[in-house]
Amino acid sequence: MDVSLLPSEIAEAQSAFPAALAACADLDALNRLKGAYTGREASHAARMMDLLKAAPKEQKRDLGAAINAVKNAWDEAIKARQLELAAAKKAATWDPTLTPPMPPKGALHPLDRLMGRMTEAFRPLGYHIEEGPEIETAANNFDGLNIPEDHPARGSSDTFYLAAHPELLLRTHTSPVQVRVLARYGAKGADGVSLLEKKGGLRFLAPGRVYRKDEIDPTHSPMFHQIEGMLVGKGIGLHHLKGTLSYAMRALFGPDTKARFRPSYFPFVEPGCEMDVSCPLCAGKGCRVCKGSGWVEILGAGLIHPAVLSHAGIDAKVWSGFAFGMGVERTAMMVSQTPDLRLFFENDQRFLAAMGGLD
Ligand code: PHE
Repeated sequence: MDVSLLPSEIAEAQSAFPAALAACADLDALNRLKGAYTGREASHAARMMDLLKAAPKEQKRDLGAAINAVKNAWDEAIKARQLELAAAKKAATWDPTLTPPMPPKGALHPLDRLMGRMTEAFRPLGYHIEEGPEIETAANNFDGLNIPEDHPARGSSDTFYLAAHPELLLRTHTSPVQVRVLARYGAKGADGVSLLEKKGGLRFLAPGRVYRKDEIDPTHSPMFHQIEGMLVGKGIGLHHLKGTLSYAMRALFGPDTKARFRPSYFPFVEPGCEMDVSCPLCAGKGCRVCKGSGWVEILGAGLIHPAVLSHAGIDAKVWSGFAFGMGVERTAMMVSQTPDLRLFFENDQRFLAAMGGLD
């Protein structure tokens, strides 16, 4: 720009501008500078317009261009400084809505969260939670479940017995809770009527720890978790079992989940079955987790064996029902794609943090 055309007072203001701008330490000072340089009245810019108006005709074009260039340069520089000061002000401002630095939050263990989700899946169907002790009697863990005297699971190579109390053991499954609950519901009250009759049936879930004499390796642990489920009513059949479990699996793994039932054997159910669900990871297309089959095994189930009902004093000609038992770790390994079960028990903070949630 040709500032030589500008009168000396404007040229002076122009040369003082950079230092004056740099000296503006806050937005108020900048606004004052802005008024003095580019304001509508009593500013250097207003003065320049007056000069332009008064200038001889033949000078107007060049003078006008010079004035414009100077004014534009001031506008630009002021705007840039304004952004700078606004950003600095924001950074320096104390914001009471900010979260202060906090210690890391605690969280439920991923297995606890998964068990919560698994039991939640049955809640709309009216199941309540029951609990039984981890130290059980052989009567509840085996006898009441129609498990024969010579069954290998009763042996001390499979089951932890208490050295000082050989009739006591660490329960090998959550099924003894069936025996306890059935005994409570089957017992006749002072009025000669059982809880089962009063309530017209029962349905419950029993989550908890179980123990087996297994060497620990990537897929075995001497302690793991199961969730037992049981329903007793009148005229209960396999269709109720299939409907209930299919519903719960859709709630747990998503609305497109399919369930399939294969015949299997457990002494306390007849008929017995195992249930697979379409692999939640590949939607049944076949992947590493389901070993290409599209299906993963989730639980054992069946219709309650009449001997189990009779053992609890319940008339198996009147009452029937179903039971199922789900493995928690197996499901956790599958949905989180964790290849080594031991990670769930070692409490390595890095693993737990990476798990975040199993949802
Ligand atoms: N208790 C069985 C197990 O541990 C599972 C099961 C429960 C099967 C209930 C049928 C009915 O393998």
